[in-house]
Amino acid sequence: MMSAETFLITGSMGCIGAWVLRNLVAEGVRVIATDLTTDPVRPRLIMTPEQLARISFVQLDITDLKALQTLIEQEQVTHIIHLAGLQVPFCRANPALGARVNVVGTVNIFEAVRHAQGQVRGLSYASSVAVLGPDHLYPERPVADNVPLYPNSLYGVYKQANEETARIYWQDWQVGSVGLRPYVVYGVGRDQGLTSGIAKAILAAAAERPYEIKFGGPVALQYADDVARMFIGAARAEHAGAAVCNVRNEVTTVSEFLSVLQTEAPGHHVTSTAGNSLPFPADLDDAGLRLILGDIPHTPLPEAIRATLEIFNPLLAKNRLDLGQLDS
Ligand SMILES: NC(=O)c1ccc[n+]([C@@H]2O[C@H](COP(=O)([O-])OP(=O)(O)OC[C@H]3O[C@@H](n4cnc5c(N)ncnc54)[C@H](O)[C@@H]3O)[C@@H](O)[C@H]2O)c1
Repeated sequence: MMSAETFLITGSMGCIGAWVLRNLVAEGVRVIATDLTTDPVRPRLIMTPEQLARISFVQLDITDLKALQTLIEQEQVTHIIHLAGLQVPFCRANPALGARVNVVGTVNIFEAVRHAQGQVRGLSYASSVAVLGPDHLYPERPVADNVPLYPNSLYGVYKQANEETARIYWQDWQVGSVGLRPYVVYGVGRDQGLTSGIAKAILAAAAERPYEIKFGGPVALQYADDVARMFIGAARAEHAGAAVCNVRNEVTTVSEFLSVLQTEAPGHHVTSTAGNSLPFPADLDDAGLRLILGDIPHTPLPEAIRATLEIFNPLLAKNRLDLGQLDS
């Protein structure tokens, strides 16, 4: 009989991490939640104290290979979802640290899985749409997984390095993995990074505050709960190969998003910077991900906005949200 699952999550205090924890706890899966800190600020926004009590929180710096290996062995980890990373502004501000966390940290994950000799059966990790270049470089639509990569930031270059690391670990040591390339993830807990403006716009609408999304134009919007379930499914696929998959879901524009927000939160004071499109294609083909997952979790935009408002509203009433995030 297959042994029970134990999931190890890196970067579990981040936005996507919090939603991964929530889903795994709801399923009753054993979960080891790791990050630089063990204070579950974001998970606490979307889970009850009883749910949080079912998670083992362990401090782990992903740049420390020895600590990672010890934890995997001690906890008999069977699946890893690797989310730890520094986002675009942080990589720009400190490129060496960005490379240490995003590149070396990912090498450490693969190295630890290799040395665990089959104990870790499934691995998914976060790449990003930022491995792709600007829209005009991709004449074929929708944009496939295997198009040439032209990253336009250090962050994107580091993510590209991770995809290539995955390829070589499969080629040389048969360490299988699935890398996902999210675009704009939104939902409760998405409070930092270049594209957090969509989530902040929903918060601003709930708080009746003015807010400007600093980009416009075409985007692919992906609800954090759906993305979390993609990472869980991708790890469970125990994929024999090094897949990297685009994520699609809601392909829309920022102004279309604002009009859906208008229906869900009438009278909001959110605007967007017109003409400042994100430098990535939005019309992405997710056929590769569909092959791995079967069904792709996809909450329609209006429903996801509603669900997000339903979580934000009581948190706002209890003064549990930092509205300072709307200033950035
Ligand atoms: N949110 C998006 O729209 C999006 C889009 C594409 C890719 N991604 C990628 O998905 C992953 C998760 O994204 P998120 O939005 O949850 O990010 P986040 O910034 O909310 O969380 C990242 C987490 O990584 C942790 N971390 C940083 N350095 C670490 C270290 N040395 N050791 C261990 N943990 C460390 C941070 O403390 C943080 O909790 C990241 O790798 C990100 O690059 C996110």
